[in-house]
Amino acid sequence: MQGLADKVAIVTGGATLIGAAVAERLVQAGARVLIADIDQENGAAVAQRLGSSVRFEATDVTDDDAIARCIDTAVQAFGGIDGLVNCACTYLDNGADSSRAEWLQALDVNLVGAAMMLQACRPQMVRRGGGAVVNFASISAGVAQTGRWLYPVSKAAMQQLTRTAALDLAADGIRVNAVSPGWTWSSVMSQLSGGDRAKADAVAADFHILGRLGLPEEVANVVAFLLSDLASGVTGADYACDGGYRALGPEARVAAIARLMA
Ligand SMILES: NC(=O)c1ccc[n+]([C@@H]2O[C@H](COP(=O)([O-])OP(=O)(O)OC[C@H]3O[C@@H](n4cnc5c(N)ncnc54)[C@H](O)[C@@H]3O)[C@@H](O)[C@H]2O)c1
Repeated sequence: MQGLADKVAIVTGGATLIGAAVAERLVQAGARVLIADIDQENGAAVAQRLGSSVRFEATDVTDDDAIARCIDTAVQAFGGIDGLVNCACTYLDNGADSSRAEWLQALDVNLVGAAMMLQACRPQMVRRGGGAVVNFASISAGVAQTGRWLYPVSKAAMQQLTRTAALDLAADGIRVNAVSPGWTWSSVMSQLSGGDRAKADAVAADFHILGRLGLPEEVANVVAFLLSDLASGVTGADYACDGGYRALGPEARVAAIARLMA
């Protein structure tokens, strides 16, 4: 992909299916990638699988010292930082009964961690003359989902962080965009469906125009585009990679007007 060769990107949450697919896509496009994740075992395994263009640094995005070490490692290993993908997340959510500690933990990982990563990367991007950031939001940012409070609120806030940061960092040559996946085949989907992809696709078909789950590689393609120079005119945007979830209204596939005449 044009404009990613020799760029350096940090991918938080890169130890899991979606984050690993992002790292792999960026490497295919010629970038070097630092995976930052709390999952040491899977993070190291992904880095090893993807080869010498990828490093893993154990990083908790809620820990400012760990973030500083992550930035240092990227700069020492690869000479600078051009891109940041804020993919790390927690699904911690106790709905209406969530405690203050749960609220703070969810927002710390999903929102504040991303903002602190961006803050820490910014001087390095300025040193390179600019950069690009992709924040992971979600379809959950824009709809009510019963029993879910913390995660959707954190993802809505990610969309607003994206707009605000895009405005304030434009003068530094830094573009900031979001990607909002729909249901995507991922560790959580695999766990919830007992590894049954066909079953997960069948459930997803009710709410996604494409009639199936998205794939990690499909989300990774959108992230790679937004990080690349091909997206030089795109900032403050939220790109749906949701198989048409947001386009499908409450009528879904029902011919609602016909019901009036029945
Ligand atoms: N799976 C989906 O269907 C779906 C849909 C919409 C959006 N998303 C978004 O895509 C991204 C990836 O989702 P996923 O389902 O693969 O999630 P996941 O839970 O499988 O992976 C999240 C990753 O973040 C890491 N992580 C958690 N806390 C961390 C911390 N404090 N510091 C650093 N790393 C931490 C985990 O170790 C894990 O590797 C998330 O931002 C999620 O909100 C996923």
